[in-house]
Amino acid sequence: MAQFPNQSGPIGVFDSGYGGLTILSEIRKRLPMYDYLYLGDNARTPYGTRSFDVVYEYTRQCAEKLFELGCPLVILGCNTASAKALKSIQMTDLPVWNPERRVLGVIRPTVEQIGDCTRTRHVGLFATIGTVQSESYPIEIHKLFPDIKISCVACPLWVPLVENSEYDSEGADYFVKKYVDQLLAMDKEIDTVILGCTHYPLLLPKIRKYLPAHIRIISQGAIVAASLEDYLRRHQSMETLLTRGGSCQFLTTESVEKFKRSASIFLSEEISVSHIQLN
Ligand code: DGL
Repeated sequence: MAQFPNQSGPIGVFDSGYGGLTILSEIRKRLPMYDYLYLGDNARTPYGTRSFDVVYEYTRQCAEKLFELGCPLVILGCNTASAKALKSIQMTDLPVWNPERRVLGVIRPTVEQIGDCTRTRHVGLFATIGTVQSESYPIEIHKLFPDIKISCVACPLWVPLVENSEYDSEGADYFVKKYVDQLLAMDKEIDTVILGCTHYPLLLPKIRKYLPAHIRIISQGAIVAASLEDYLRRHQSMETLLTRGGSCQFLTTESVEKFKRSASIFLSEEISVSHIQLN
């Protein structure tokens, strides 16, 4: 297995596809001075329906590539990867690659905010099948807030709606309402709902339309950005390794043209994209 020396470089942000761009844009708004390298594994998306072993192997390959390209720090901008691969990478791979480098996920920062958001202590979660089956959210929430009851709904059709640019079509309404109704039927006291998949912020207007107005919706981008800023303040040895040029490069395992077209939905700027071959 490869070993990587200490070096300075950009912050790596990874997702199975485009969802991580919702995280990247918030991080760049908050921390515009750093350089960024985004990797979307678009050729193998979605991860949400795949087994633990497959998600771990795919995520491991992507994190390894970002380290090989010089990132001292990699953010898994994907709940499915954070749920199924983060711990194994931190415990098994990082010590071999370079114990000084870091991989951070999106679940823990989200969970840390939940205690302050809910009054009824009844929370809902929309996420991929993989994230729901991993039980990562209930496990992490109960570690910090044992009094909170969480109800989880897997929404396997939401990521394909976003990846295929159908998120604001009339057809999308049917599938948004379906999963929202499912959640509301599980617990009438829910006052806070977590969008536990980085693709879902694109469906926010429709989710808002079908959820009762008093229910608060938590998107992760701003939370993850604030948590990263705090992390870098507390870890100066990592912060000093990050290069500061304000640049952002994009890598995709699929076609560059396709990535540019779809990424424009998430980002309002001209972007530089390269194709990357893994393994
Ligand atoms: N965006 C990913 C997440 O946050 C999931 C997308 C997928 O299923 O690949 O879970």
